[in-house]
Amino acid sequence: MVLKETLLRHGFEFESDTDTEVIPKLAKFVYDSLTEDTRAGDGGGKEIQFSQVVMEVMRQIEGAYALIFKSPHYPNELVACKCGSPLLLGVKEVGEAENRGAFVETELRLAKDGDKPKEFYIASDASAVVEHTKKVMVIEDNEVLHIRNGAVRIYKFEAGKARTAKGGLPRPASIERALSILAMEVEQIKKGNYDYYMQKEIHEQPDSLTTTMRGRLIRGGGDNVKGVLLGGLKDHLRTIRRSRRILFIGCGTSYHAGLATRALVEELSGVPVTMELASDLLDRQGPIYREDTAFFVSQSGETADTLQALEYARSCGALCVGVTNTVGSAIARGTHFGVHINAGCEIGVASTKAYTSQIAAMTMIALALGEDTLSSRSRREAIIDDLFNLPDNVKEVLKLDYDMKNLAQELMEEQSLLVFGRGYNYATALEGALKVKEVALMHSEGILAGEMKHGPLALVDETLPIIVIATRDATCSKQQSVIQQLQARKGRLIVMCSKGDADLMCPNGGCRVIEVPQLQDCLQPIINIVPFQLLAYHLTVLRGFNVDQPRNLAKSVTTS
Ligand code: G6P
Repeated sequence: MVLKETLLRHGFEFESDTDTEVIPKLAKFVYDSLTEDTRAGDGGGKEIQFSQVVMEVMRQIEGAYALIFKSPHYPNELVACKCGSPLLLGVKEVGEAENRGAFVETELRLAKDGDKPKEFYIASDASAVVEHTKKVMVIEDNEVLHIRNGAVRIYKFEAGKARTAKGGLPRPASIERALSILAMEVEQIKKGNYDYYMQKEIHEQPDSLTTTMRGRLIRGGGDNVKGVLLGGLKDHLRTIRRSRRILFIGCGTSYHAGLATRALVEELSGVPVTMELASDLLDRQGPIYREDTAFFVSQSGETADTLQALEYARSCGALCVGVTNTVGSAIARGTHFGVHINAGCEIGVASTKAYTSQIAAMTMIALALGEDTLSSRSRREAIIDDLFNLPDNVKEVLKLDYDMKNLAQELMEEQSLLVFGRGYNYATALEGALKVKEVALMHSEGILAGEMKHGPLALVDETLPIIVIATRDATCSKQQSVIQQLQARKGRLIVMCSKGDADLMCPNGGCRVIEVPQLQDCLQPIINIVPFQLLAYHLTVLRGFNVDQPRNLAKSVTTS
């Protein structure tokens, strides 16, 4: 904001409200000032290098980014830099064969790579360049990559190193870096050591969650107040808080992510939240008002129903916010502003890591909306502390893999599975059942435990497996009584509870227990869904179905 105001004062005009637009304009401003200084004799009289301009820009910006710069002042040059977000360089000699073969451990020094003409690829993920070249180099934080007339140099950016005594820019020293030669099968590189994308994506959740939160959580201490920083939202928080109502709109797993965070958004913002399945909103043309803020939750950012709901909400005059995993997607472009969940590319049709990242991102949205309320400060701080603890706790719950495989063996011949949840974990019940249904092709139903007596109880007998989610939160004692009632009817129970609560939750024994780590109630859905993902995965493998491409389903449903 401060940078933008400075640039506005210097006559720059802006076409959008994005932080991104500030960066090229800042680069132009830096370039103009540096060349002016040089002409005036303050810069040591030397030509300003493109990479020096970029380093000046880096000195002034904050947060997580990966940037590529091109400029008419520097034809045949390109500079890239990063902080927090991933960035890698792929190098291909012109005429080199496409990438195939086995992994080779050789390293190739860029400097020794001669003068052969090359093609360069810059991407956030190896999967994007691997079909073009197997020679890649990961760019680390605070490194600046400078490609000039076909030659590459990497410079270390030092934030503290500004002007020299004479006022000139320091000449950065280049560092030597080896290219790693990846020559695995393209598919294998994407899957790593895993057999399936879904399996890989379940197990990479500690990392994907870290990426979702990177640069967005403020730990507190010193002059810093513990809090969250969501670049896309920070200038609009007041407007959202003043909304008459918030709507969460999505389909499938993305709808469940909204449901999992609804209570927290209501608690911290004080604004009522309405849940909308995009297709149902469209079918009934539900009323939306100018005073509403509508959040569009979508991994792909391209789901047809969600997109149409967005067009509809815009036509009604609502403020539209995107929560997507895909930069540049239709929903990211069509909303007024938004938050990217940064979970990384998700390939398995059944959403796993995007779901947990959506909940983490929307939890941060709730925290940002509540940041002006003093009375909720200790609650917000406790949630932030647990967000920092989240990746380690997800690592912990992933250790249940073997237990979930055993449970899958027990359940693989079953026709049906019920999942009872309530409160924050009603969403977990729906999403857990959806995972089992969509990949293991087993009928499964998520049920709000509060509705048990209004129908589902009739199904209970000694054979039908029922998972009851009863981790510690305000609804936990009610779940305890649900367990007792199900046991009284000889239900076949599997109870998910907080670590150490097995005896409390199942005092009469006789039920299988899944113990999970305990976090703040609103973050528990992220922990609790993981055993369900593992169960669905193992059930699918054991039942012999396609894990990554379930029958009749598509990753992105682009038709209504
Ligand atoms: C499809 C996918 C689901 C996803 C849903 C919504 O059904 O198979 O995994 O949850 O679409 O997709 P979106 O990209 O909008 O989150």
